[in-house]
Parts: sequence; C-alpha cells; structure tokens
Amino acid sequence: MKRRALIFASAIAIAAVTGASCGPGTEEQKISLTREALYDPNNCLPCHDQQFREWSSSMHAYAAEDPVFLAMNKRMLRETNGASADFCVGCHAPMALRLGLTKDGSNLADLPTSVRGITCYFCHAADAVEGTHNNPLRLADDGVMRGAIHDPAKSMPHRGAYSPLHDRENPESSKLCGACHDVVTPHGAHIERTFDEWKNSLYSQPGQLSCGKCHMDGSDGQAAQMDGAPKRKVHDHSMPAVDIALTPFFGVESQRAAVQRLLDQTLITKLCVKQTPLGVVADVTLDNAFAGHKFPSGAAQDRRAWVELLAYKNDALIFSSGVVEDRKAASKLEDPNFWLLRDKIFTVDGRETHLFWEAARVESELLPAAVTADPLDPRFIHSVTRSYPLPAIPDRVNMRVRMRPLDFDLLDDLVASGDLDPALLDKIPTYDLASGTKEWTSEVGFARCIE
Ligand code: HEC
Ligand code: HEC
Ligand code: HEC
Ligand code: HEC
Ligand code: HEC
Repeated sequence: MKRRALIFASAIAIAAVTGASCGPGTEEQKISLTREALYDPNNCLPCHDQQFREWSSSMHAYAAEDPVFLAMNKRMLRETNGASADFCVGCHAPMALRLGLTKDGSNLADLPTSVRGITCYFCHAADAVEGTHNNPLRLADDGVMRGAIHDPAKSMPHRGAYSPLHDRENPESSKLCGACHDVVTPHGAHIERTFDEWKNSLYSQPGQLSCGKCHMDGSDGQAAQMDGAPKRKVHDHSMPAVDIALTPFFGVESQRAAVQRLLDQTLITKLCVKQTPLGVVADVTLDNAFAGHKFPSGAAQDRRAWVELLAYKNDALIFSSGVVEDRKAASKLEDPNFWLLRDKIFTVDGRETHLFWEAARVESELLPAAVTADPLDPRFIHSVTRSYPLPAIPDRVNMRVRMRPLDFDLLDDLVASGDLDPALLDKIPTYDLASGTKEWTSEVGFARCIE
C-alpha cells in the first residue's frame, strides 16, 4: 500500500533549526520542527495549548487506549488467524500503521503514545481523500500543517497552509471526517455509515452544516496561544458524542458532561395519551432534530438507545416497557412493545453476531435525519411515532429516552473470552436524554400532548 511508504526513520530535509522562536513578527520563517517532531502531539503543546488539552480528552486521543477496542482487536486477531490484521489499527492507530511500527495493533502498548490514536499530525498532514470509507486519507510528507487559516503567522516553527478539507465552512471538509466515519467490514457489511447518512441528509446541501460546524464549536481566541499571535476563530477539538474513557484519562469528567449536554439537545420528543376505538394508547414521538445523521449513528451495532415507558393508576403500575436493569443487556430484554434503536449484524451464514468484523449484513432501526428544510415537502416531517397499548385509563405516564455507548451482550462476551477486565463493566454509562423525560397526568387530559 503506497500510503504506508512513510517511514519513521527517514528524516527529511526540513532544516532542523534549534530553539523554536516563540515570538510572532519574525520576518523570515524559521522551521525548527522536523517532520518527526511534528508526529508527536506533545511538541504542539507549547503553542497550541488549547487544542492540545481539548484533543487530549477526546475519543481521537483515546482510540488506541480504549480497553474495549484493545479487547476486540485481540479477539479478532485470535479468531481470524490474522486475516485483515491491519483493519482496526488503520483507523484507531493510523500513524503507527503507516510508519510501519505495527502490523496488527498487538504491540500497541509498547509504542510511544505519540503514535497511538488519531494524532494532530494525522489530521493536519492529510491533503487528499482517496475514497469514501476505511480511512483512505493521503498524507503529504512536506511538513505542512494544514488548517483553515489563509495567512498563518510567519512565527510558526512549521509550515502551514489553507486546505478546504480543514475548513468547516467548506462542505468538502466532511470528507476528511467521513474517511474514517464510514466503516465497511472485511465481509463487505457497511456497518458505520455516519458519512453516508450525512451525505444523504439535508445537512450536506449547499449552505448547510459540515461535520465540523456541529462537532467543532468555534470561539474567539488565538490559533497559537502565544504573545502577539493574531486573533482568530479557534475550534473545539474535544469532539464529545457518546463514548467516554473507561479508564483514568485526561479530562474524563468534562468530556462526560459535554456528552450529556450534546445528547440532551439531540431529540425533540412528544408524549400523548389518547382514547381510541381500540382502547387507551400512549403515543411516543421521537424526532431526530439536531443530529446531522441518523440517531444513533456510527457504531450503532454496539450502541443502544431506547424508550422506557411506565403507566400508573392509583399509584399502581399498570403497564411498563423498556425497563432495562443496570448491567443487563438491553438487547436481551423480553418485551413485545420494546422500542430499541440499534443496528443488528449478521455473519455470512446468517447468524446474528456482536463481533462486527464477522458482519456480512446489517439490519438497522435508527431515527432518520432531516432531508429537507422545506415545510411543504412531504418528507419534512421525519419523526417516528409508536403507540403503546395501555390496559386501562392511567392517571400518570412517565417516559425516558435512554442511551448507552456499548451493550452488555458484547461486553459480557468479551469478559467471558478473557479479553476484557470485568471491573470495567461498572464504568459503562447509561444516559437519560433530558429532552426525552416527560410526564403525563390525568389533569393534562386526552386533549393535550406533553411536548
Ligand atoms: C513554537 C510555536 C508552535 C509550535 C510548537 C507549533 N505551532 Fe502550529 N502554529 C504556530 C503559529 C504561530 C501558527 C500561526 C497562527 C496564526 O496565524 O494565527 C500555527 C499554525 C498552525 C496551524 C494552522 C495552519 C493554517 O494555515 O491553518 C496548524 C494546523 C498547526 N499550527 C498545527 C501544529 C501542530 C500539529 C503542532 C505540533 C506538531 C504545532 N502546530 C506546533 C506555532 C506553533
Ligand atoms: C483517522 C480516522 C478519523 C478521522 C480522520 C476522524 N475521526 Fe472521529 N473518530 C475516529 C475514531 C476511531 C473514533 C472512536 C475512538 C474510540 O471511541 O475508540 C472517533 C470518534 C469521534 C467522535 C466521538 C464519537 C463518540 O461516540 O463519542 C466524534 C464526535 C468524531 N470522531 C468526530 C470527527 C470529526 C468531526 C472529524 C473531522 C474533523 C473526525 N472525527 C475525523 C476516527 C477518525
Ligand atoms: C480529527 C482531526 C483533527 C485532529 C486529531 C486534530 N485537529 Fe486540529 N483541526 C482540525 C480541523 C478540521 C481544524 C479546522 C477547523 C476549521 O477552522 O474549520 C483544526 C484546526 C486547528 C488549528 C487552527 C486553530 C483552530 O482552533 O481552528 C490548530 C492550531 C490545530 N487544529 C492544532 C491541533 C493540534 C495541536 C492537535 C493535536 C493536539 C490537533 N489539532 C488535532 C482537525 C483535527
Ligand atoms: C447538525 C449537526 C450535526 C452534523 C452536521 C453532524 N453531526 Fe455528528 N452528531 C450530532 C449530534 C447532536 C450527535 C449526538 C447524537 C448522536 O449520537 O447521534 C452527534 C453524534 C455523532 C457521533 C456519535 C454517534 C453515535 O451515536 O455513536 C459521531 C461519530 C458523529 N456525530 C460524527 C459526525 C460526522 C463524521 C459528521 C459529518 C459527516 C457529523 N457527525 C455531522 C450533530 C451533528
Ligand atoms: C474506517 C475506520 C474504522 C475501522 C476500520 C475500525 N474502527 Fe472502530 N471506530 C471508528 C469510528 C469512527 C468510531 C466512532 C464511532 C461512533 O462514535 O459512533 C469507532 C469506535 C470504536 C469503538 C468504541 C465504540 C464502540 O463501538 O464500542 C470500539 C471499541 C471500536 N471502534 C473498535 C474497533 C475494532 C475492534 C475494529 C476492528 C475490528 C475497528 N474498531 C475498526 C472507526 C473505525
């Protein structure tokens, strides 16, 4: 593979000038960071402290530390005898793979943290996207750090240049993210489709929102936090969504809070209780109003999002659905009314699995994204409604929308195979989405819905 030709040891001819000049306004640019030095995020810290700290708490920094990742990678290598051995590290530790420091990720623990995870260099050296999935990013080896600034200050110790792939105002920039946020398994199943979902949504249309517009909030500041550097828009590199670090990791508490804030604002929901000719029903409506792709998206084979609904009469429970106990797999709940959002994956011989490298086929039940902003277009309303049959007229109905990044069917299996530390099971969060917590009471009556 040509993109692996980048060799760690082959120092290139970026003049190694000692002592980075940290004051801007120098007439001539002094390049003091060699390409090898640029590989290491720690070398960005002196000047890009903010981006460094945000990135350090992100799942991009955690991608090759994640114990679930390491457990699954280990199990995949063992059970497939090394077929497609580089599949996982191609996205989770792309620098280590392309520098030839790993072939399959089995030695990740022995490698410096600077080449684990999705590093600064990996995103900022990318100059072309040569496909749509499984990380087809091409890295330039010219020592240029690409970004959205047209006229970077000459005081940089590295080269810099504008790139449309790194400019969230340009829809092209979604291709940079989409390169990895679209996964096709060795058996051809398109399991993670975030980029594809975005492309088919309203958000990829002209004037709409790229990935970075939602996932990298802009604020006023300095691109380089050093005396005299110009005022710029800077962009959040912590990229919270669903996952959090399960082991001690920089910024884990703030990341968790940011995940909760994002999830709280993702859906619009509605709860109505009605009398119909067939009896009393509770109608629950979920509208994926604010995600630029489906909900959940990405690793939806492992994610679970579901509705919990409880109805009471005279303080006695008369109906319940979606009551998932802590530490129990949502997918194993026996409940005819259960509304569970997830992907199901199947092997070549049609067996259901939760080991996604075996997946040859996907069945999906997720909330769709908006496709049009025109209220007259019949596709404008993309919310989904489910009716729950109630045995009697209740005096109170409570609902919650819950979500967890990983379910216990997979996790218990990884513990059973000896690949995952059972102590981690207690660390798996289950979030309640604020916009999904609703209460209907008989005072509200049948005429009005809780929105
Ligand atoms: C000695 C200080 C210093 C160090 C160390 C440093 N940079 Fe920079 N960097 C700068 C300055 C100054 C700018 C220009 C800022 C401006 O014009 O607002 C810059 C700009 C950038 C840009 C934007 C380029 C553009 O045109 O949009 C990126 C991306 C970048 N640096 C990445 C990195 C990375 C990654 C590292 C670590 C491998 C790093 N930098 C290390 C000082 C530094
Ligand atoms: C080199 C591949 C790669 C590129 C490029 C990339 N990502 Fe990621 N991203 C990942 C991986 C791998 C993870 C998951 C790490 C983990 O949880 O183990 C991830 C995680 C995330 C998450 C957190 C998901 C969660 O559930 O918590 C968000 C949000 C995200 N990326 C957004 C972006 C955006 C926006 C861009 C473009 C600016 C981008 N990514 C570019 C590979 C990539
Ligand atoms: C997942 C890809 C990705 C990773 C990893 C990443 N960046 Fe960025 N970075 C971007 C994108 C995209 C932008 C441009 C956002 C825009 O302006 O639209 C950016 C912008 C920047 C800028 C310009 C100022 C700003 O905040 O917009 C600097 C400096 C920078 N990054 C430094 C870093 C450093 C240092 C690291 C590692 C500690 C890092 N980046 C890791 C994607 C990434
Ligand atoms: C309109 C805003 C918006 C846009 C555009 C957008 N996202 Fe998201 N994204 C969200 C929200 C809100 C969430 C949290 C809800 C969820 O998990 O779907 C999210 C979640 C995610 C997750 C975690 C998904 C999961 O459920 O595991 C990833 C990964 C992600 N986004 C990547 C991307 C990428 C890559 C793009 C561009 C191709 C993109 N997003 C475009 C708003 C957006
Ligand atoms: C094409 C790039 C790509 C490849 C290949 C890839 N991943 Fe990922 N992985 C991602 C992205 C992107 C995310 C974040 C998805 C999201 O948040 O929805 C992720 C998330 C994860 C997570 C955290 C969320 C979850 O699903 O539990 C684990 C664990 C993981 N991957 C394991 C693996 C393993 C093991 C392999 C190989 C069998 C692999 N990945 C191959 C891109 C990739």
